[in-house]
Amino acid sequence: MGELQAVILAAGEGKRMRSALPKVLHPLCGRPLLSYILDSAAAVAKDLVIVIGRGADQVRETIGERWSYAVQEKQLGTGHALMQALPYLPEEGCLLVLCGDTPLLEKGDLERLLRAHGDSAATVMTAVPPDPTGYGRVIRGQDGSVLRIVEEGDASPAERDIGEINSGTYCFDLKLLRKFLPLLSPKNIQQEYYLTDVLPLMREQGYLIGACLNECWPAAQGINDRCQLAEAAAIMRGRINRALMEQGVAMLDPSSTYIDYGVRIEAETVLLPQTLIEGETTIGSGCRIGPGAHLLSAQIGDGVVIRQSVVAESVIESGATVGPFANIRPGCRIGPQVRIGDFVEVKNSTIGAKSKLPHHSYAGDVDIEGEVNIGAGVIVANFDGRRKHRSLIREGAFIGCNSNLISPVEIGAGAFVAAGSTVTDDVPAGALAITRSEQKNCAGLGKRMLGKEERQEKKESAEKE
Ligand code: UD1
Ligand code: CA
Repeated sequence: MGELQAVILAAGEGKRMRSALPKVLHPLCGRPLLSYILDSAAAVAKDLVIVIGRGADQVRETIGERWSYAVQEKQLGTGHALMQALPYLPEEGCLLVLCGDTPLLEKGDLERLLRAHGDSAATVMTAVPPDPTGYGRVIRGQDGSVLRIVEEGDASPAERDIGEINSGTYCFDLKLLRKFLPLLSPKNIQQEYYLTDVLPLMREQGYLIGACLNECWPAAQGINDRCQLAEAAAIMRGRINRALMEQGVAMLDPSSTYIDYGVRIEAETVLLPQTLIEGETTIGSGCRIGPGAHLLSAQIGDGVVIRQSVVAESVIESGATVGPFANIRPGCRIGPQVRIGDFVEVKNSTIGAKSKLPHHSYAGDVDIEGEVNIGAGVIVANFDGRRKHRSLIREGAFIGCNSNLISPVEIGAGAFVAAGSTVTDDVPAGALAITRSEQKNCAGLGKRMLGKEERQEKKESAEKE
């Protein structure tokens, strides 16, 4: 495409989002709205200028310094925004102008616009959505050429009936744009400098304005409010899911499988309904994830099973099983073939190969070596009310049900902690630790506790009488 330049307008206030976050930073499938159109533009253009204004520092910090930025101090309209970018652009050439709030446009859409543009003065990408409300309408002449674009607020009822809308994406001859852009005036209902008004100015001077109809709605959909954001997210999710399925990932119900942009999943893994996979998650092959799994920046090996559980910022190695109803909090490394069962919470801990935590335990700040068995209800008490401490459980140890390990303690290799013990000191390798009090059996007392003896006596005396 030669020396194509691109400008992305992203300074707008985004009032209709009703949010403190700049509109272009709202997350769409886990990344800022602006990133998508940025990627598409970068795929076709040599240089890129982003016009920022509302939340400028925040946008710049999030998007990074790879691109040039122009600052629009006051949001006086799309035409005014583009004026701010001119000093960063060459004198002439072809310029692609995009809006930061159209994330669904792909490289192919932009290439079609560029081909249609050729050497024209200006070409606008149009579309025919099911409901054109809110968009600028395209007014065409009898010969089909574009006369002008009228914004919804400025349109007559007849103009509002027009179904063809302006997508906010254009190609300009930069030299001509430099001539006509300064002639804009804010004489409209919003008292803004509309970029669209540059088109009739060019036309009046005899330049032909082209249009390129994008036939695959909703590719050109703009995001102005949270409803449109949710609609676009659903479409983006569909694209993400389709690409993964094409690579060999199975989904029982793609419509209830929510995967962030950039998540990597290998072939032969099955995703079950109501599964949410966020952040920089990677999943190996042959896994079964869900139903109801929530993974957040997790690294999952091959052949892992995760059911109705949360895994955040942790590594689950191959062959491990997690859940149902487990909570793997940040900083964990769950080793190969480990079994984490129901109602188990693990935090900032390492669990060695083939160890088992099958039911109802809490393991916080503990290193557990391989083949350790943790009985039901075991608590590794890592917090003394002021500080966190770390414990170590060595190879092959057995921790009986309902035991408390008061950190920091070390349980030696092959040691046995009897059920119901509260362990405050280290246990040597191979030892038995038992801290519970001895059992006493009091003859007959059970019956009396239940009041059965008295009732029997009463019954007998009643029968005698
Ligand atoms: C704009 C178009 C409309 C088109 C629609 C497509 C104009 C006048 N209207 O309307 O014809 O149908 O897009 O989605 O161009 N921006 C700035 N500075 C400003 C104002 C806006 O940088 O002062 C940026 C915004 O961040 C946004 C883009 O320009 O990315 C479009 O602005 P927005 O206010 O959303 O325009 P629309 O009302 O949607
Ligand atoms: Ca818009």
